[in-house]
This record gives sequence, C-alpha cells and structure tokens, in this order.
Amino acid sequence: MTQYNFDEIIERRGTDCFKWDALQAMYGRADLTPMWVADMDFRSPDFVMEAIRRRCDHEVLGYTMPSEAYWQAVTAWLEKHYSIQTTKESLHFIPGIVAGIAYALMALTEPGDKLLVTTPVYPPFLNLPKNSGRELVCSPLRITNGRFEIDFYDFEQRIEGCKVFILSNPHNPAGTIWGEEVLRKVADICKRHNVLVISDEIHADLTLPGHKHVSYSTVSPSAANHSITFMAPSKTFNIAGLGSSVCYVADDDLRKRFFGWLNALEVANGNIFAFTAAEAAFANGEEWLRQMLEYLNANVQALDNHLKTRMPKVKAVLPEASYLAWLDFSNYGLTHEQLKDKLLNEAKVALNDGITFGGKNYECCFRLNLGCPKQQLLDALDRIEKALKC
Ligand SMILES: Cc1ncc(COP(=O)(O)O)c(C=O)c1O
Repeated sequence: MTQYNFDEIIERRGTDCFKWDALQAMYGRADLTPMWVADMDFRSPDFVMEAIRRRCDHEVLGYTMPSEAYWQAVTAWLEKHYSIQTTKESLHFIPGIVAGIAYALMALTEPGDKLLVTTPVYPPFLNLPKNSGRELVCSPLRITNGRFEIDFYDFEQRIEGCKVFILSNPHNPAGTIWGEEVLRKVADICKRHNVLVISDEIHADLTLPGHKHVSYSTVSPSAANHSITFMAPSKTFNIAGLGSSVCYVADDDLRKRFFGWLNALEVANGNIFAFTAAEAAFANGEEWLRQMLEYLNANVQALDNHLKTRMPKVKAVLPEASYLAWLDFSNYGLTHEQLKDKLLNEAKVALNDGITFGGKNYECCFRLNLGCPKQQLLDALDRIEKALKC
C-alpha cells in the first residue's frame, strides 16, 4: 500500500498559486507563511495526476461531457459516505460551489428577498446576498465548550420572512459537525417557515477520525425536498484549481426550476480535467483520504497542544472536519489593528481576518488553515506565540 508523504515541503511560490503568490496583494507583504485561503499545501493525489496526464496525452481538448464512469464514481461516493441514494438525474455538475449558490439564488429568489446565514461564516455567504440585491439576515452562533452552536431561539426569530437559509455543513470557519439532531431541528423550523435550505457540504469529506458528517438532505424526507446540496472533491483531494463540484436536488419541482437555469447557462459543459480528476478521485481516493485525514488530525492535536500549553489565553474552536480553526485572541487586550500588526509583521503569518466572517463582533478572531506540513504549522505557531508575548 502506498504510504503518502504529507511532510514534504513543496514550493508553491511562482506557480500563480493564490495562497502563496497573492500574499503581497492581499496582505501587503510576500514573506508570510500563508495560513489563510482554504487549500492544502499537499501534493494532489498520484491517481488524480495520472488520470490527468493520460487525458492530456490524447492531445485533443475539444468540448467534453460528463461520462457514465464519472457519474458512477460520484453516485457511489455519495451513497457510501453519506447514504445519499441517487442517480445522475438528480445531480448536476457545477464548476464551483460559490458559483452554484449564486446560480441557485438567481434562479430561485428575487431581489429584496431575505436570506439567512449563521455567523461567523464563510465570507462569500455574506457577500453573495449583498451583491445580488438580496437582504442578508444573520443569526449569530454561540460558543459552548469550544464548539459553535446554533442559538435556536434567535434562529427562529430571524428566519421569519426569509426565503433561503444558506447552511455551511460542516460549518466554516472551524469545521463544526452539526449532526443529526441539530439538522433535524433546522429542518423542522425551515419546513414550518417554508424556507429553502442551500446546504454547502464542501468540507464533508474532510470529517476527521471520530466524527460523522450527516448530510442535510438525509435527516428527513422533508429536508430532502426543501434543499439543494453542494458537494465537491475540490477540498478533499486538493484539486480546487480545477473547478469541479456537484449539486444534488431530490425534489422534482425544485430540480426542474434550478437545473433548467443551469442548463440554460450550460454550466455542465465543464472542462475536461475537472471531470477526469473528479472521477479518478472518487473512484480511487479512499486510502489517500484516510491517510490525509490522519495527518490533519495530528496537526489539529498539535495545535490544541500548543494552545493549551503555551498560549492558554487563546480561545479556540478546533475543527471536527476540515483544516480550519477559529482562534479568538480577545484575552490579549489588543485592538484589531494591533493583533493584525503582530500576526503579520512579527509572526509573519497570514490568517483570515475574523471581521470578514461577520463583522466587528469578530475583530479579535482569526481563522487559521492547518492543511500544511506539520513543521510549517509548528514554526508558525512558535512565531505567533513569540509575537504575542511582547
Ligand atoms: C464553505 C465553503 N464553500 C465553498 C467554498 C469554495 O468553493 P468553490 O471554490 O467550489 O467555489 C469554500 C472554500 O473555502 C468553503 O469553505
């Protein structure tokens, strides 16, 4: 069995890599360790690279289409991992999930409609409604025992009059697994208020050992009928640059309305390598993913250990899925600007600014991406500790 080496440091600078090569533009300096945008510094899997090379060798890159083998790999993955029993008729290729959510909002809502999110949340969830003339409604999450929780009293107050709830499942920032009971409660409320749920499950495959992802659509027949689910191999296998995602709609009427739009936009024409890579990943990816998740889990333990023993003032929400951790530095008594200055100019790390996940309430919070070789993580944590000591 292949032993994959996730300790390998791979130079990504100079490859038009957003995470590394956009540091100057995004943070004002290029000499930072990037622990921001959600991709991993690991090599994409060998079986994906081989499939792409094979496809490339044919040397004709004309229009393409999803093959039966692609659909077979997708449907088998969904059934095995999430008990979603479906056929290609209920699925649609989508290049990217943010684009997919935007298409759903265009197809199924009107300007002025109210859309609910729970904050802090992945910034495009906040920007999409605002930039499309929809009204954004935010229900703040609570933190209990180091985990995000939905405040159901607040949630039910705010959902009144909303058309859509955009759910991050697992929740970004911090890879919180919602679980069956919570999702059932969400489904009951959304049904009562006639709200469509868009469940973004891009991080589902990154569920860490000891946890179980529950897909929203599977918690009840009603949840399946009032939801659109987005999944992707992009984060799972570190192939986000290929733009390969999929959406699942169980309800006939909803599907007709949404897929009609997608067909009109011809989004399923995709690109050759997106289909090739997704098929290879889903068909062959179990063992690579198992090893990679063990590695990520060890990084989470290393972060936890570092925070507990050397930076106990940091309040953290650690991932149950994904490689994203939410760090609250408010106990240091520093302003947002002072924290940013220390992290950037002393620790030389680029983290995501908490404010972008929901506003000023999160000005002392930052999201850290630990999807990297362990040594890179440990070095960065050492520098963060030193910068915050003085
Ligand atoms: C919750 C969530 N949804 C969507 C995306 C982006 O997906 P895509 O690149 O397919 O638009 C990310 C990337 O970080 C994410 O965390």
